[in-house]
Amino acid sequence: MTNYRLHAVTGAFGYSGKHIARILIERGRQVITLTNSLHKPNPFGQRIRVHPLCFDDPKRLTEALRGVETLYNTYWVRFNYRGFSHEQAVHNSRILFRAAREAGVERIVHISITNPSLDSPLSYFRGKAQVEEALKSCGASYAILRPAVLFGHEDILINNIAWALRHLPIFGVFGDGQYRLQPIFVQDLAQLAVAQGETRDNATIHAIGPETYTYRGLVETIAEIIGARRPIVSVPPWLGYAAGRVIGKMVGDVFITRGEIEGLMADLLYVEGAEPVGRVRLSDWARTHRHELGRDYASELARRADAKMKQTDRGRTRSDTDENDRRPRTGDRGRTLSSSRSGLPSPVYFQSKQHRPAASKRGSRRRKPANNPTRANPAARAKSRE
Ligand SMILES: NC(=O)c1ccc[n+]([C@@H]2O[C@H](COP(=O)([O-])OP(=O)(O)OC[C@H]3O[C@@H](n4cnc5c(N)ncnc54)[C@H](OP(=O)(O)O)[C@@H]3O)[C@@H](O)[C@H]2O)c1
Repeated sequence: MTNYRLHAVTGAFGYSGKHIARILIERGRQVITLTNSLHKPNPFGQRIRVHPLCFDDPKRLTEALRGVETLYNTYWVRFNYRGFSHEQAVHNSRILFRAAREAGVERIVHISITNPSLDSPLSYFRGKAQVEEALKSCGASYAILRPAVLFGHEDILINNIAWALRHLPIFGVFGDGQYRLQPIFVQDLAQLAVAQGETRDNATIHAIGPETYTYRGLVETIAEIIGARRPIVSVPPWLGYAAGRVIGKMVGDVFITRGEIEGLMADLLYVEGAEPVGRVRLSDWARTHRHELGRDYASELARRADAKMKQTDRGRTRSDTDENDRRPRTGDRGRTLSSSRSGLPSPVYFQSKQHRPAASKRGSRRRKPANNPTRANPAARAKSRE
């Protein structure tokens, strides 16, 4: 693979995009970024060319991408909020892929999510599936990486669990907490992305790390590592969500959405039988970084404010996140679940059985993960790479 061809990374001043860009630059590649964060600090200086992620001007996007060999796409929005939404992110992603093809981009490495589904009542997982479909039909060769949850410096989700453990007197897990997650180190994901950028085979890869946790096990592990002795109690999901709303108000952020709780509880951050592709263990990394993990709250909305989000982003203005995180479409096979597993305020639509990963069915749900070394083998906690 030639060094002189351009590589493009969306969001190189963001989270995973920064790691992808760093690896490419270290390997001597010429890199451009397409970003909404033109005003954020640029850690790469002159080594990266910066272009706006201007979905409202596809021609300009195409021009920015001209000469680019591989596009690494991290673009997505975490939840539906004022001025941005999953639906809009799907629309924008289509524009991006079209622009990439018109510019002659050969390869697109795309970051998705575990268990995307066109049938999902959850707009995050449904939207991700729609973007994957758009990518597959755009004409470029592609690699789709499906991570569950990322960890590493500047992470939001794991950091904020630690933050809550440090700062709140009690930690509530939604329901029984036995649904699972397979976190991957952000640098492992970035390395995988760059490796995939070097090939031309179409691929869809479960980008999961070496440890599987139950949600409760994850919270307990983090609590133990950072030395936060707090009661960790099961709460009905609606109560956990309500508490999350209060915390969100306190910190000026969206702490967690109903869609995220439902996705977690439906085991959508878990893939049965998938081989880990990440090497760094969350438990090792957290132990190395136990003093800083969760010291400060990591705010999604503050990062968007930093990015000076463009008003040109289309989408309905919303007063809050949640109606739209899980709004069913006509024909969705979701069923109402106002008082059963989730217990979230109605109307709550739960994904169909067909969408749920096989292992998430009742019976297997209560099993403890077999490959959680933090429980099975404390000696396995070796030093992490960062
Ligand atoms: N973080 C996780 O734990 C996790 C877990 C599973 C899957 N993923 C997937 O991995 C990919 C990258 O995630 P990340 O955490 O690395 O993302 P990120 O850096 O926060 O954002 C990636 C890109 O999306 C843009 N973006 C994010 N929110 C936006 C908003 N509200 N409005 C407009 N643009 C927005 C960013 O804009 P800027 O250019 O302004 O930075 C950046 O270009 C995403 O597709 C995500 O779904 C992440």
